[in-house]
Amino acid sequence: MASLTIGRCLDTPAPAELDPAKLNRHTFWTGQSGSGKTYALGVLLEQVLLATRLPIVVMDPNSDFVRLGEVEPTADTASADALRSRSIRVLGGEGEPLKIRFVDLPVRSRAAIMQIDPVTQAEDFNVALHVGAELQRDGTGTALQGRLVPWLHAHEEPQVRRFARLLENTGVADWDLWAWGAPDARAVIDEAPDATVLDLGSLTEPGEAKAAALAVLDHLWADRLQKTPRLIVLDEAHNFCAPDPVTPVDRLLTERIVQIAAEGRKFGLWLLLSTQRPSKVHPQALSQCDNVAVMRMNSPRDLADLAETFGFLPRELLERCATSAQGEALFGGSFAPEPAFVKMRDRLTAQGGSDVPVPLR
Ligand SMILES: Nc1ncnc2c1ncn2[C@@H]1O[C@H](COP(=O)(O)OP(=O)(O)O)[C@@H](O)[C@H]1O
Ligand SMILES: [Mg+2]
Repeated sequence: MASLTIGRCLDTPAPAELDPAKLNRHTFWTGQSGSGKTYALGVLLEQVLLATRLPIVVMDPNSDFVRLGEVEPTADTASADALRSRSIRVLGGEGEPLKIRFVDLPVRSRAAIMQIDPVTQAEDFNVALHVGAELQRDGTGTALQGRLVPWLHAHEEPQVRRFARLLENTGVADWDLWAWGAPDARAVIDEAPDATVLDLGSLTEPGEAKAAALAVLDHLWADRLQKTPRLIVLDEAHNFCAPDPVTPVDRLLTERIVQIAAEGRKFGLWLLLSTQRPSKVHPQALSQCDNVAVMRMNSPRDLADLAETFGFLPRELLERCATSAQGEALFGGSFAPEPAFVKMRDRLTAQGGSDVPVPLR
């Protein structure tokens, strides 16, 4: 099988290769901000596109992967042709619409997004359930095309009108994320394109990105028995899988990711969690990762945490991460033949979300 050629070894004159077959495990990707994690992750994803048929789903909070389908002029012809033949769907921003059908979400997720507590606000929750069922009947929800709140305000039942005020106060009903009649992002993911990039950075309301991520993760989990293999990439994973989640949506996200980390492997749900702070990702997700990449990491505490969690990484190599240069990474675990430092190769596709340039005269 083709290997993933991600760069060259720093300590030996050899190409650096990873075993794509070992992506059937979870992967942890870390390094301080600016160490080149996202760029390096792009290098890996390009190689996954070239060497495998593993569908990739990217949660992209910084719009860094929105140009994954744009081949750089510097790419070699064979890679360029191969990459152009792959199906890469970008949802959100300038790509296809990134929409979710609210009424199709699991009940618990809907309640969390609306900030309704099913226990202490049992009555509101109950109304939400009934309204959901009413909207699903006869395409009522689709026909409303976003005019949900006025429809609720005009409802004959007073408790529904009360619920309208509650929903209005949260602003959730006005989110651009909701599909109403439009196609749902989950339908695109079900087509299993080679890569689906969810441009979460394109969503404007603070809660929308997390709601979208939750919808997709809930969906992948609900369909787990189909055993469609997926590489689920979460860049800035600390936003989705905090050890101490506060809001109801954060709690559900962490719960779902920890569950996929613990049980997803046998269903073909493989996580790649990328973050600058290992301690800001739930330890039960972290400890399930068998593949690791560590880029520059100044903080001795973070390095000590990594040494403890990933005992297979030799300490002297981990310590070198304190001084490694941008674009250098220590790879270890199942997908690496042995723990080794790698100078990442150049990207074959464009990195989006770059800094805003200073307008010069
Ligand atoms: N190996 C590399 N070669 C060239 N430029 C790089 C490389 N790694 C990172 N960069 C550039 O440095 C900046 C920061 O990298 P990025 O991957 O976004 O860091 P991080 O995700 O760790 O914060 C980006 O503008 C990126 O294009
Ligand atoms: Mg980044």
